[in-house]
Amino acid sequence: MSLSTYSKELIATANSLAVSGKGILAVDESTKTIGKRLGAIQVENTETNRQAYRGMLFTTVGLGDFISGAILYEETLFQSHLDGETMVQKLNKAGIVPGIKVDKGLRPLPGAQSVETVCTGLDGLVERAADYYAQGARFAKWRAVLQITADGCPSDLAIRENAWGLARYARSVQESGLVPIIEPEILMDGDHSIEVTSAVQEQILKEVYFACQLNGVLLEGTLLKPSMTIQGADCAQKSDPQIVAEMTVRTLERCVPASVPGIVFLSGGLSEEAASVYLNNMNTISRKAQWNIGFSYGRALQHSCLKAWAGKDKEAGQAALFARAKANSEASQGRYVPGSQPSSDEQLFVAGYTY
Ligand code: 13P
Repeated sequence: MSLSTYSKELIATANSLAVSGKGILAVDESTKTIGKRLGAIQVENTETNRQAYRGMLFTTVGLGDFISGAILYEETLFQSHLDGETMVQKLNKAGIVPGIKVDKGLRPLPGAQSVETVCTGLDGLVERAADYYAQGARFAKWRAVLQITADGCPSDLAIRENAWGLARYARSVQESGLVPIIEPEILMDGDHSIEVTSAVQEQILKEVYFACQLNGVLLEGTLLKPSMTIQGADCAQKSDPQIVAEMTVRTLERCVPASVPGIVFLSGGLSEEAASVYLNNMNTISRKAQWNIGFSYGRALQHSCLKAWAGKDKEAGQAALFARAKANSEASQGRYVPGSQPSSDEQLFVAGYTY
């Protein structure tokens, strides 16, 4: 098998994920991270509780009207629902494409500054991706993280290494039929301005696409998952939603090839409401490139839902998820009326966040 074997399928999968009006549900929290979420609602982090929570999400009636794909953690890809059907079958029945987080997490980057990291998991990735494909996954995610600091981060070394890792990952999973979601996240930590974020993000994205070219990545069979162009969480000057939307679109237009079918944002610690409002504003701006601008939210889709579920109330959990999924579907078409769906304004940003 090779990329050419899968190229048609990769393009079809990427287009189906990036279809207008739908986005991606990121439920690929590591066992440690989901433990923090469950801990916050006093639910023990057992496999049974993770199965109950994620099974509750995937059996939300009508979810497939707003959600095109779900990114899973490995445990979930190989897990069954309480009724014995696999989670993959549940998603397929809902018309939701199963995906898989394939990176093996962040490690310190030798030679760079102390906060800088490299994303690991390239060894054996072509083979691992083939196993995930056999299990029903059709797309993948790899999250590289960069941070802006007053003392010069991200360094050129961190940018180059993380861009290279993303491109190698993208090519590797395409060889096995999985559409790569390319995720160069810029953390919100810091007091930098939105202009600084935009300049740094331009450098990162250009490096990512240069590395993709060198690795022969089929861009039509990829999605980009960036953070929004926004000031650091500690910056005194808060940009209004229209400025965030304009700056983000400008950054993307300067860097993302038109052959990429979709851009799906991460929420990165934005509140549920802000994540929807910023996305909505982006979709009301006239723009040069045709990529679909949608979402691949984790926290901004699950926060109210987790609280409403609280380990026992399936209907309330599903209603909360449905509301945020519908809101973001509307936002991805520029039709969201702020506050029209129940949501939370709670800032979900945590300094030094690990996923
Ligand atoms: P958040 O939306 O919570 O940032 O998560 C999305 C994601 O998948 C990060 O890798």
